[in-house]
Amino acid sequence: MIITGVDYYPEQWDRSMWEDDIRRMSDLGIRTVRIGEFAWCRLEPEEGQFEFGWLDDAIELIERYGMKVILGTPTNCPPLWMFQNYPDTLQCDRDGTRTKTGIRGHRCMNSPTFRKYAGRIVALMAERYADNGIYAWQIDNELESNHCTCEYCAASFRKWLQDKYGTLDHLNRAWGNVVWSGEVSDWNQINAFMTAAVNRADWFNPGYMLDYERFCAASTTDYVHFQCDIIRKYIPSAVITTNSCFGSNLPDFHQEFEPLDVASYDNYPPAVIPANPEKFYSNAFALDFVRGFKQKNFWVLEQLGGPMGCWSPITPQLEPGMLEGYAMQAVAHGADLLSFFRWRTASTGAEMFCYGLLDHDNQPNSRTEELKHLIHRLELVPNLSETSLTSKVAMLYSADQEFSFKTQAQSEGFAYWTQMRLFHEACMNLGVNIDIIPQSHSYEDYEVVIVPTQFVTDKDSVKRLEQFAQQGGTVIVTNRSGVKDEHGNCIINESLPTLFRKMCGCYINGTDAIGPRYQRIRSLHGGVFSITSWCDMLVCETAEPMAVYLDRFYAGTPALSVNQFGKGTVYYVGTVGEKALYRSLLLEVFHQRKMNVIENLPDGVESTVRSAEDMQFRFFFNNTLEGKSFFAEGKRVSMQALEMKVLTRSGQWI
Ligand code: GLA
Ligand code: ZN
Repeated sequence: MIITGVDYYPEQWDRSMWEDDIRRMSDLGIRTVRIGEFAWCRLEPEEGQFEFGWLDDAIELIERYGMKVILGTPTNCPPLWMFQNYPDTLQCDRDGTRTKTGIRGHRCMNSPTFRKYAGRIVALMAERYADNGIYAWQIDNELESNHCTCEYCAASFRKWLQDKYGTLDHLNRAWGNVVWSGEVSDWNQINAFMTAAVNRADWFNPGYMLDYERFCAASTTDYVHFQCDIIRKYIPSAVITTNSCFGSNLPDFHQEFEPLDVASYDNYPPAVIPANPEKFYSNAFALDFVRGFKQKNFWVLEQLGGPMGCWSPITPQLEPGMLEGYAMQAVAHGADLLSFFRWRTASTGAEMFCYGLLDHDNQPNSRTEELKHLIHRLELVPNLSETSLTSKVAMLYSADQEFSFKTQAQSEGFAYWTQMRLFHEACMNLGVNIDIIPQSHSYEDYEVVIVPTQFVTDKDSVKRLEQFAQQGGTVIVTNRSGVKDEHGNCIINESLPTLFRKMCGCYINGTDAIGPRYQRIRSLHGGVFSITSWCDMLVCETAEPMAVYLDRFYAGTPALSVNQFGKGTVYYVGTVGEKALYRSLLLEVFHQRKMNVIENLPDGVESTVRSAEDMQFRFFFNNTLEGKSFFAEGKRVSMQALEMKVLTRSGQWI
């Protein structure tokens, strides 16, 4: 059964409200209640004084009403006594000064003092609730990559570098520190990244920045291990997760989730459908990205339950169908549990206008009605949770690309994620499942591997891709690949795409970072597409050109190429196109591989399949505010705005 739950903060409400809340949750069909993740000051109001009684009661009440608890460790916001008694537990900002208290998420994950107190509260909780049938544990909340600049973090960074490079000579050479007299003669000259003097990352050595980002991500992973080990010590069979989000400092999710049992995500798709249809599929991308963290079904620990406020002015009310549609969209991409944020909107604190399912009036409303409908619908297909997404197409993700693109924008408006999203969107609009997997993962069982922007290149990855293509696979490589080595320095004395040149059968003899400007290419198979951001001027060696530029001094020069490589095929996409370009390219690839596609899904409609040996559910989601009608699977399908339809193998609609 796909599980529906809610996020609840008993510590924020008067006790007299608890039972009514919990009874109403249970009446709605809610199965899990996520609690605890911000409640440290009520669990340890003074240093070493613990008060678990209220939490015992809340858990008991939830369980009495037949629901299960997802328990958060409260380490995201320590009580104020800790910061007062031990100021070294507070994060330091980019300028090296201590963050001020009164917010959340401002603890230093590397501070031994913080670890001591965090470790103690987590251990006490794990020990106390070991036999309570806790459904799962959530570590902390929305962990970002740790960018604290305190002395502990700087020292850990130096230690990390010493382990990696051994000697300063190796480090100086790896980073190319001679530039601007940056050669390090003592480890203590290396600091955590600060921007007080120069408020820009791009003034710093990219080699240093790349390792610094890797270190910050590794700190977060280490912190996850730290909490996991404590919980497992008391509850070896505990199911442990953490709720991911995509902030400005992304961790290395694949490493971070390695010690965890299940990937989780906080799913807040836009309440306002973007006017620009180029943005329609960003949410589907996020969901598939999260499924890739552990390459299996995942959970949503915060699912959009009402208009968002607080971080921004209050968004418009959810459109009718939106709450259910977005929830079903998560299921379509592999979610097995959806916990709605939050039961009732806070009446105090910074998030009092970040709406949950219930408004402040505490009355049932259109959103709770929609949730009821969703729960009923999911109950009709109890075996849906036994299915998963299988894909013939993989897209490789590497945190290194994200880290280095973040430091050195290659052209205005061009991010690492841009092309991943475009390829992903085309798959969705062709009804083709796609997995987003870590670059280091094996992909031999896939037919098509898309490798966007291999900016930071390592020889092993290239060798594996060559082998995959040689043995019959299709590989798609894009612009800004082969630019840098694994230390973040430019590869010299070889034409781009350097290590990829052999498999792509082409090289580049000119580049143009056109930024937000638009130009055009003409496909040699017909069709003109607009392009933006970047143009590689290709010289085809063994490859055949597929499209040529139409504008400026390189009009007529190839922009896209295809190369037969061993038994397989390698495409090179030298530019960034409009959506239709990726659709047309992938359609050609999928046809060649004789894969099933749904060719005529309208713009804004996506389709995925969840299946098991004896079951298949095809999902159609209309991610727009207009009705859509089309033919698919031999049927006319009519969809309302934001509607999700699910077709079983036997032709029934759910
Ligand atoms: C995040 C947090 C929640 C809450 C929501 C709403 O996802 O995890 O605690 O703040 O945002 O904005
Ligand atoms: Zn720190």
